[in-house]
Amino acid sequence: ESTLGAAAAQSGRYFGTAIASGRLGDSAYTTIANREFNSVTAENEMKIDATEPQRGQFNFSAADRVFNWAVQNGKQVRGHTLAWHSQQPGWMQSLSGSNLRQAMIGHINGVMAHYKGRIAQWDVVNEAFADGNSGARRDSNLQRTGNDWIEVAFRTARAADPAAKLCYNDYNVENWTWAKTQAMYAMVRDFKQRGVPIDCVGFQSHFNNDSPYNSNFRTTLQNFAALGVDVAITELDIQGASGTTYANVVNDCLAVPRCLGITVWGVRDSDSWRPEHSPLLFNRDGSKKPAYTSVLNAL
Ligand code: XIL
Repeated sequence: ESTLGAAAAQSGRYFGTAIASGRLGDSAYTTIANREFNSVTAENEMKIDATEPQRGQFNFSAADRVFNWAVQNGKQVRGHTLAWHSQQPGWMQSLSGSNLRQAMIGHINGVMAHYKGRIAQWDVVNEAFADGNSGARRDSNLQRTGNDWIEVAFRTARAADPAAKLCYNDYNVENWTWAKTQAMYAMVRDFKQRGVPIDCVGFQSHFNNDSPYNSNFRTTLQNFAALGVDVAITELDIQGASGTTYANVVNDCLAVPRCLGITVWGVRDSDSWRPEHSPLLFNRDGSKKPAYTSVLNAL
């Protein structure tokens, strides 16, 4: 195959990218994105601050620009993200307790209703665990509403759109030996045992020199899949874009039947949220980097 999406489709998987609405007028960008990828995640446009800037007043203009571009070009969409400590609108940041809990539920219902039946996977909850060795939940206004906020979010999401796969998504959970990974594993195991509706776990996979790729990532993916959830690589970028490391990640996904697909977090290095790491598959001028060929050959 000659594109990433078509190559991934050979094994029933997708190869996606984050898309920024502000770049959809850049034909060099859309040409590459449309040619290579068959899944789309809105980089920022479906987040809480973008979709509910005032309480109860939803705005899907930017989100729909990304969504419609994706669907009109035949791509599936990952929804990102419904409940998160970051990129909350000011009104939500100032809430607490049952008021915040109700706002979270209202937000999930409002956004999922708009896209009902049209989103392949939703990142229902993003980044709820603390970094470091504690294995604890991250302190946030949502966490302070009660430890059950995550399962409430998932139950709300299942009722709002039963067709969407519901994912928990996080970073620094790729290395099996890390406490954060083990804490996430314990939560997913508990959810499956108690019937909390969770379908998938997203591994962001922002690899850099402080949290590098480790070959036990495949073990991590296998162990989560064995709990009865799908897994996905949701925001892949690799500092320095080593072709070997990119190929290792692809091979880890391909080794796990429940690995649904891979999404890279941007198209060209100049589109990256951390361009100083040159972490993506295309150069600023749109040319393919060596890592692109490594990924295509591995798929
Ligand atoms: C990042 C976007 O790429 C940036 O444009 C924005 O300024 C901040 O958020 N984890 C996530 C993504 O789940 O939503 C983040 O995206 C990157 C880290």
